[in-house]
Amino acid sequence: MAILKIARMGHPILTSRADPVIDPADPVVQRLIADMVETMQDAGGVGLAAPQVHVGLRLFVYHIPPSRADTPDVPDVPMALLNPELILVDDGPLEPGWEGCLSIPGLRGMVPRAMRVRVRALDAAGTPLAIEATGFHARVLQHEYDHLDGVLYPMRMTDFRYFGFDEELARHAGGSRR
Ligand code: NI
Repeated sequence: MAILKIARMGHPILTSRADPVIDPADPVVQRLIADMVETMQDAGGVGLAAPQVHVGLRLFVYHIPPSRADTPDVPDVPMALLNPELILVDDGPLEPGWEGCLSIPGLRGMVPRAMRVRVRALDAAGTPLAIEATGFHARVLQHEYDHLDGVLYPMRMTDFRYFGFDEELARHAGGSRR
């Protein structure tokens, strides 16, 4: 396995739409998934999408540690989702919450998101799966899914007063790791 280089905001792959994975069993795809999980863990992130490691494929990995899980629907193993389809189930108002991104290091912003989503995808073995997610889990899935369409979280923000350096936000009232 290998630690992959993470693209930072400004690199055009981060604002490009990614292509479907044709063959999940392809050894190149399997190695990519393993390397993305390792890269995510090394960087201390909860999610990582293929475009963030310079690969324009519709695939992301995520792993929310128990300390950050606020709902019981969070799997406590690294997940890989290929060719995901995302459905916003909640038709209520979007909920603001803090987000960071490994492609936008050191910064954090308040992003409105749906609090309940359904995702259909293939897992790493190519088996179809369906996920119902709420809370932070739903937020992570929307954030990672957006990467596949070339959307970064600042493009979803509505109030730029709540956008800043992690260190400053942590130092002042209202700042949060989330
Ligand atoms: Ni991100």
